[in-house]
Amino acid sequence: MLSPSILPTSSRAASGSDEKVRRTLLIVDDEEGPRQSLRVVFKEDYNLLLASNGLDAIALAQKHKINAAILDIRMTGMSGTELLEKLKVIQPAIEVIMLTAYETVDTVRQALRSGACDYLNKPFDVPTIRKAVATAMERHSFADEIRSNNEKLTALQCELHDQKLQEEITRTRGEIYASIIHDINGPLTIISGFIQIINQRMGDSKRLEGEDMEMVKDRLRRITRQVSNCIEISHRYLSFMRQQPSGPARVSVNQILDDLRELLNVHPSIGNNTLKVQMLPLDVELQINGTDLIQILLNLAINALQCSPNPHLVEITGRVLETGLDLATVRDGPTDRILYGQGFANTPPMLLLSVRDDGPGIPADVLPKIFQPYFTTKLPGKGTGLGLAIVHRLLKEAHGCLHVRSKPGEGTVFNIYLPATLKR
Ligand SMILES: Nc1ncnc2c1ncn2[C@@H]1O[C@H](COP(=O)(O)OP(=O)(O)OP(=O)(O)O)[C@@H](O)[C@H]1O
Ligand SMILES: [Mg+2]
Repeated sequence: MLSPSILPTSSRAASGSDEKVRRTLLIVDDEEGPRQSLRVVFKEDYNLLLASNGLDAIALAQKHKINAAILDIRMTGMSGTELLEKLKVIQPAIEVIMLTAYETVDTVRQALRSGACDYLNKPFDVPTIRKAVATAMERHSFADEIRSNNEKLTALQCELHDQKLQEEITRTRGEIYASIIHDINGPLTIISGFIQIINQRMGDSKRLEGEDMEMVKDRLRRITRQVSNCIEISHRYLSFMRQQPSGPARVSVNQILDDLRELLNVHPSIGNNTLKVQMLPLDVELQINGTDLIQILLNLAINALQCSPNPHLVEITGRVLETGLDLATVRDGPTDRILYGQGFANTPPMLLLSVRDDGPGIPADVLPKIFQPYFTTKLPGKGTGLGLAIVHRLLKEAHGCLHVRSKPGEGTVFNIYLPATLKR
């Protein structure tokens, strides 16, 4: 067996005058005669790699980048077609010309199907094989250029993606910080309300007794709860930022509705409005963090309380649904918006919680914008425009769905749907 040989770069290549001469041509033939005549034909033009069998050719292909190859189709041991397939695995871009003698059309067709770019009959004439190799080299350069452009494009896409991701992270961080302030503002408003009440009741008295003492103790208890709420809110956001999964959460709905009523009754937005919070006849459990659920309902209810300066009704109700939602019947339109993510299970039992008001309603041109972060129709300094964006995010995390229906002049209802567990 002849060992594979590598011919040094020709004198023209050594001058470095022509980029093409550095291209590499592999010649594989188990007959010494054709192998040597091919060597003579191409030695001036390319770096040559010579092999007398498939295994040696594979060894060369594993070591050197090859632009084109001439393979004899009929060789002892590994056939040319077999070698072609193996070379294409090692170097997919390699261009291969097959040398055929008495092969059937089927064998040649198989070689072309396996990726050969051309075939020539033995004995070949020099101009024909020169032209075939030159074309193969051209094809390789062209494919190489396309591939390198593709790689550059992919690298550019990755870079752009990374940049977008970075921007997204910065934006999300900004939104989260603003959200923390938005959410903590609720409990802080309530705390300041309680403190004001305590101050009024205490007046100038030096000592508290009886009913006054009980009242102060009660308000202090409520303040403590709100302070815990603030801490819980900041913990929730911080773990969200650190991408820490929050543990399994379960919450009793009636407990939350009770807390909500208490919070809203002392909220400055209550004004002369009428607030009705209806308990569930049979309590259910939801798989959502309690702070998140109260945040969702508080944001919706405060919006409802603030929707008009005139006294109006705000009603919060709940109902267990024994069937899934028919999503085909609710479409985004002038009076409706429906939001749910891929995670929305839509399998009963579900709890429908509704926050309804008989205020002015939301105009059709405003409705599509209300969930956008920082969108607000409130006066400067009165609203951040984050409340509904927070509601949307929390609901998505809880695999829920939100549907809002609003008709100008007739009021607004926000319906939220969450997977529920019935208490037996
Ligand atoms: N019940 C409602 N009735 C009428 N308009 C509403 C109602 N709820 C929300 N909107 C509209 O949606 C907008 C966005 O609400 P969102 O809660 O996101 O922000 P905001 O209430 O303006 O600000 P913040 O929540 O910081 O107080 C509101 O400015 C208002 O125009
Ligand atoms: Mg709001």
